[in-house]
Amino acid sequence: MSKLTVAMPKGRIFEEAVELLRKAGLDIPPEFEDSRRLIIPVDEIGIDFILAKPTDVPTYVEYGVADIGVVGKDVLLEEERDVYELLDLKISYCRLSVAGLANWQPTDSPRVATKYPKVASKYFREKGAQVEVIKLNGSIELAPMIGLADRIVDIVSTGRTLKENGLVELEEITPITSRLIANRVSYRMKSEAIDYVVEKFASVIPS
Ligand code: PRP
Repeated sequence: MSKLTVAMPKGRIFEEAVELLRKAGLDIPPEFEDSRRLIIPVDEIGIDFILAKPTDVPTYVEYGVADIGVVGKDVLLEEERDVYELLDLKISYCRLSVAGLANWQPTDSPRVATKYPKVASKYFREKGAQVEVIKLNGSIELAPMIGLADRIVDIVSTGRTLKENGLVELEEITPITSRLIANRVSYRMKSEAIDYVVEKFASVIPS
């Protein structure tokens, strides 16, 4: 079977994805999670893992330097990369929502802060609402608290970050889970190896 390069997102999805791979019977060494290496070859299963920033996973896959990758649907929606979405891994459940201060009221100059400017713009455009979208790179909840924006579009998982900062969820935009994606050429040229990984994953994903 062809050797595969798999892009994995460093951060909160990573451990759940590795756990799923192990459950699927792939022999991932125990030191895998603790390593600082960014390319980890696991020769036993013929896979080189690359550890990337989550938002970059679809880029590595689109350009074919990774054959497949694991990535949140939120990133896929925002990045709009030309990749195949093969499988919903049904891990890292969360949602993309609009949130604001508990006493939020509509204003004349609405501003929305987010890490997801494309998704947010599309959402408000489709609702027919005019908003100014401000791109931030993290700690989005700060924006309404200090008056940069009146609302945010961000990931809500447990809801704890919103709660501890006096914010409330106003509208859910879409539920989010992690997906397995593939490079279009790899999917044709390395179909046997990719199908093998897909089947392994599929066997352990809850239906
Ligand atoms: C994410 C998200 C929220 C938080 C939600 O942030 O942007 O801030 O997690 O999780 P919760 O509902 O369980 O509290 P992340 O930790 O990825 O960091 P960020 O501030 O860089 O976005």
